[in-house]
Amino acid sequence: MLVQRVKTVRDINCSEKRVFVRVDFNVPLNEFGAVSDDARIVAALPTIEYLLQSGARVILASHFGRPNGERVAKYSMGNVAKILAQYLGQSVLFLPDCVGEDVSFAANKMTSGSVALLENLRFHAEETANDPKFAKQLASLADIYVNDAFGTAHRAHASTEGITHFVKTKVAGLLVERELKFLGSKVLDPERPFTVILGGAKVSDKIDIINNLLDKADSLLIGGAMAFTFLAANNCSTGTSFVESDKIKVAGNVLKTAKTNGVNMLIPIDFVATDKFDAEKMAVGETKIVDANIPDGWCGIDIGPKTVEKYSNVIAHSRTILWNGPLGIFEIEQAASGTFSLAKAISSSEAISIVGGGDLGKAIRQSGYDSYMTFISTGGGASLEFLKGKELPGIASLDKIS
Ligand code: 3PG
Repeated sequence: MLVQRVKTVRDINCSEKRVFVRVDFNVPLNEFGAVSDDARIVAALPTIEYLLQSGARVILASHFGRPNGERVAKYSMGNVAKILAQYLGQSVLFLPDCVGEDVSFAANKMTSGSVALLENLRFHAEETANDPKFAKQLASLADIYVNDAFGTAHRAHASTEGITHFVKTKVAGLLVERELKFLGSKVLDPERPFTVILGGAKVSDKIDIINNLLDKADSLLIGGAMAFTFLAANNCSTGTSFVESDKIKVAGNVLKTAKTNGVNMLIPIDFVATDKFDAEKMAVGETKIVDANIPDGWCGIDIGPKTVEKYSNVIAHSRTILWNGPLGIFEIEQAASGTFSLAKAISSSEAISIVGGGDLGKAIRQSGYDSYMTFISTGGGASLEFLKGKELPGIASLDKIS
């Protein structure tokens, strides 16, 4: 696992400087186009507030959705600017583009302790293409570059990687610093016993994480649809549950390696199953609890109560817990209990709890136990890549501590 020792805003003097901060304000929208979860905005506040107190001129930039180089109204940063202003308790100057003469003029006129938010970077196709000319234009707005967009750090885009070639000082923000501490240092050198909980749909998505953590974890608890591929590797019947048939052998090898390494690897002993599952409508038919041999015509949708009890017992004896991926289809009421019950078990444990972002972050917030977690990552794809042990371009391009 790579733990990058990068410089942060604490290592530099920002007073009076134009500081370009790449944040990840890629927030979810509800059916009415309003921001439905502002966790990523809240997570960026410590860096913004730190810079304001240091007397910086703060220029914020983010992507929002995937507008593919077009100006798509629902992905304008205008509404985000309003939410941010409320949190900061001061006005946020919203600039209707992210490059160009008007933007440069406005940025140069900013005074110490003021904040501006640029329009969506992805309204320009050059952003995702990591176009050097576009990156240079962004860089021209800044004396200092700060990357606090952990959720986008796995993308080598103009504002996350390209820009660093044109700015002398490039450091991490306080959110990135925390992400590296919890997903990096605390996982690399955990307080033991160290328990890893892995859910999600596919073994193929998680196999690199499993391989990366199999020599570090004391216990590995499996849930989510990928559990059925492990069940198949143990020659159990899986009914109509989702199984990656080309990964059964891989799952079998993981079980063997865990045994050889002395890792307490557990797969579910019971499930919530349904006789009908409509993935498009997210609806289920009749449900019942079944053991780890799922009957013909039935589909597993969550871990069962005996599994919850067994896993909760492991959690109660852990000192560090890393959790990535939901354990059932938590969006459906009948299949949410496994994920929510383990969140509850963690809330009453003394362990350091580190939760991967994306769907699981959403599930934990939905469970109401989010405030009990030590750290919930803001990265979905980024935290996955990081836990696989991969280098993130948005981090690798920052100044290192010598
Ligand atoms: C995310 O939501 O995972 C990040 O903001 C990255 O977004 P992207 O997958 O559209 O690059």
